[in-house]
Amino acid sequence: MSSASPAHSPALPTADAAARLLERCRSLVRPALAEAVGRLHPWVGEMAAYSFGWCEPGGAPVSAPAGGKGLRQALAVLGAEAAGAPRDAGVTAAVAVELVHTFSLLHDDVMDGDRTRRGRPTAWKAYGTGPAVLAGDALFALAVETLAATSGTDIPSAVRHLSTALNDLVRGQADDLLFETRPWTGPRAVRPDEYRAMAEHKTGALLGCAAALGAVLAGAPRTTVAALDRAGRHLGVAFQVVDDLLGIWGDPAVTGKPVHADLLRGKKTFPVLAALGTAAARPLVRLLDRAEALDGPAARRAAVLIEEAGGRGAALTEARRHITAVEVCLDSLPSAPRAADDLRVLLDFLVRREM
Ligand code: IPE
Ligand code: IPE
Ligand code: MG
Ligand code: MG
Repeated sequence: MSSASPAHSPALPTADAAARLLERCRSLVRPALAEAVGRLHPWVGEMAAYSFGWCEPGGAPVSAPAGGKGLRQALAVLGAEAAGAPRDAGVTAAVAVELVHTFSLLHDDVMDGDRTRRGRPTAWKAYGTGPAVLAGDALFALAVETLAATSGTDIPSAVRHLSTALNDLVRGQADDLLFETRPWTGPRAVRPDEYRAMAEHKTGALLGCAAALGAVLAGAPRTTVAALDRAGRHLGVAFQVVDDLLGIWGDPAVTGKPVHADLLRGKKTFPVLAALGTAAARPLVRLLDRAEALDGPAARRAAVLIEEAGGRGAALTEARRHITAVEVCLDSLPSAPRAADDLRVLLDFLVRREM
């Protein structure tokens, strides 16, 4: 495919167009993000830079790029553009949500006991749990400071919007952890609607905030803000369902994260819940309902049984259903400028992604 093709050419593969969009937004946001991180205590700033993939532990520059996909910052830039907000509002929103995202990952890896992220040791493995928690706290504070110190039209509403997303994120993380100890079957089993609420809170709230924050900062109409927030929340559920799927069948060399860690911890992920709802789930039920926790071979067996019972296909169907809901929200935006089309470019990529 020629690199000279326009981003909107129908002949351009979606993944390629999405990669270009993510890169455009990443380079737009990077200077402001680096400036904000540069204000941190040097040791804390180094841990933050490590988490963003900008340096090795100890501060040496990275030999190969090691960051995340940059989805939230892209949503913030494109959401602001779709609302007709000034570019500065989009960039400020992007910095705030990317800081919150990285904070939430630092703490999430401690909560989930995960040792790899973005293909490298997690911050708590590289620096220790206490320092990693502190770095997360610092990023959280920096996000609020970034928003409060900006020059938007409606800063109080923007801070309120971010606080609501943060409260939802904590609520979602709490349910995610509590669900680990709930049984797989019986009256106390986690229902798909409980999963959806948990996923909307832990992941969708920040994606909704990302999409809407630039519009809030610029004082855009409430209907525009609500449509963008709703779009991001549905996108978040789709995104989390795909994240669950990659946690069972993904390639750690591509995702940069461990595989089967969710199964080993008893996380109530969507593919498993969907599989358990089918008649073909009997062998899976027998495996999951054993008294002892799953080990590696049992987790591999569970992955096969979940797929055989249709859990993988059901997860993709669920993700696509939420993507359709995102499209409906985007259609309801007062005008359909190019940025709304750009947002659509990301949707298919996010369902088909392998990382
Ligand atoms: C991981 O998010 C956490 C979830 C909410 C599933 P991403 O998959 O966007 O993580 P990075 O930023 O690309 O590493
Ligand atoms: C992450 O959820 C959600 C937040 C960080 C708030 P997961 O725990 O499912 O995400 P990964 O798989 O570790 O990235
Ligand atoms: Mg996790
Ligand atoms: Mg988690």
